[in-house]
Amino acid sequence: MCGIIGIIGNGRDVSPHLLDALKRLEYRGYDSAGVATVHDGRLDRRRAEGKLANLDALLQADPLAGNIGIGHTRWATHGAPTVGNAHPHATETVAVVHNGIIENYQALREELAGDGAAFETETDTEVVAVMLSHLLATGKTPEAAIAETAGRLEGAFSIAVLLTAYPDMILGARRGSPLAVGYGEGEMYLGSDAMALAPFTNRVSYLDDGDWAVLSRDGAVIHDEGGAVADRPVVTTSTSGALIGKGNYRHFMQKEIHEQPEVIGYTLHNYFDPVRHEVRLPDLPFDLADLPKVTIVACGTSFHAALVAKYWMEQVARVPVEIDIASEFRYRGAAMPAGGLALFISQSGETADTLAALRYARTQDQHIAVIANVPESSMAREADVVLQTLAGPEIGVASTKAFTTQLVVLACLSVAIATARGAIDDSRRRDILRGLAEIPSRVNDLLGREDEMLAIAHMLQEARDVLYLGRGTGFAVALEGALKLKELSYIHAEGYAAGEMKHGPIALIDEAVPIIVVAPYDPLFDKTAANAQEVIARDGRVILLSDREGCTRFDGQAAALIELPRVDPFVAPILYSVPVQMLAYHTAVLKGTDVDQPRNLAKSVTVE
Ligand code: G6P
Repeated sequence: MCGIIGIIGNGRDVSPHLLDALKRLEYRGYDSAGVATVHDGRLDRRRAEGKLANLDALLQADPLAGNIGIGHTRWATHGAPTVGNAHPHATETVAVVHNGIIENYQALREELAGDGAAFETETDTEVVAVMLSHLLATGKTPEAAIAETAGRLEGAFSIAVLLTAYPDMILGARRGSPLAVGYGEGEMYLGSDAMALAPFTNRVSYLDDGDWAVLSRDGAVIHDEGGAVADRPVVTTSTSGALIGKGNYRHFMQKEIHEQPEVIGYTLHNYFDPVRHEVRLPDLPFDLADLPKVTIVACGTSFHAALVAKYWMEQVARVPVEIDIASEFRYRGAAMPAGGLALFISQSGETADTLAALRYARTQDQHIAVIANVPESSMAREADVVLQTLAGPEIGVASTKAFTTQLVVLACLSVAIATARGAIDDSRRRDILRGLAEIPSRVNDLLGREDEMLAIAHMLQEARDVLYLGRGTGFAVALEGALKLKELSYIHAEGYAAGEMKHGPIALIDEAVPIIVVAPYDPLFDKTAANAQEVIARDGRVILLSDREGCTRFDGQAAALIELPRVDPFVAPILYSVPVQMLAYHTAVLKGTDVDQPRNLAKSVTVE
């Protein structure tokens, strides 16, 4: 979602560096972009629809001078992704970039229009520029103007502000959406995340909710919501300054799928002692044996990891588990028994709904744990305990390696809870851990089967609808497979619990609808197989994912068989996730869609 960068430069023109930073924010998803600088006491800006290449071309044709500036990638919320609605939004004296949604913008707009202000865009952001200009025109200092403006805004926002009258100053403010200050040598930076700031500095401080900041060439003064000067520690981030490349791969997503054996291995070794066959978790400020309930909340692909974890934890640890989608959970006033574990799963650690759900759980006397891929993220900073996935930066919008590493952490956590509660015996624990230890090499073998997946992708690419069916953890894989296919290839796809098919989706079945059945040969196989037979009896084309035993049962009946190695049923969802990723990837490539940045999607969803 929207990305922000601000640079107070040390004498150099900043617009090429603003553009570099925006390239590092591309992965968040956007549909227009822009930069603004102050030069010779005048604000100037360049804005373009579509990809950054368009903004780059504009800057080449018509360069922007100035050693102070702000830049933005916009993911449209209010107003179409046109040049006119692209940020920065500016008056004669103020330019603003914004991430988030200002919920009371209409009321503010009417109020400012009543005072004679004119508006040029359909955006919620423009009110910020107009309000700041208005306050400065009445003689307020920049500090007073930003504090008052931030105080009037409702909703979630992070903003960066440039002022013509103060050519050495950038203002920032945040509530709900993230913002970080970067400290350089005679230069200062403001950005959405450490990723944007990494080429310039690794010394970063994160603004807390409600903070506003005044950056000068020499440093930053950060104030809390009440206006008091706040001490926000400067931390050294490990985010790499090098622009992450695709290596020899055609897309980031393909590269990230292929990194899975390695990153699953890293993550596993972080939480599992292979010699002693024990799970190793960080010190926990609560006792896993005493949890009355586990509540897991997440969005998108991370929610599918939560669904797998529900099956795992209930089966092996016999602990009650409730899961929910963050956007539903945050407003439903969930009843949570005191002392429960509230677990939030998020690749980015910034998803607005999941963060709000975490804050709700905090009010309900819960222990707060976060599984995140970004250790400096807002969720990680607000948690009692962070279980990091060691997937490395994930750039493709569709999550792959973050998902499988989330599953690895959740598997280890499930075994740890089961062990603490005395719900699992030694031999079962060892079997599960042995199964987990085999996953990296099993995934590696699968990645060599690109041609087989491509052949099946040829079958999928012509389809208008595709159904995915599964039971137990296979149901979660079915949901994830359908999500991957629809977001990447724009083919309508649905994941369904196999047993629920008779209650609706069976009406869709004909020879044109491929049905992907996720069915390892486990105790539920016969049930799922019966559902697959019901599909075949109606001329449906079944593509079966199973092991040798399962595939043999469908030889000559299924339209295609993807035979996977036999693994412990507990770890099967990790393995089965990989071919569904590969099928979606190849189908999207065949259809010629934008694999790494599918239309309308964002990597980090920082608005609700
Ligand atoms: C977006 C991304 C998905 C991701 C979801 C949740 O929709 O496109 O890939 O699964 O957000 O993101 P999170 O960072 O919280 O895991």
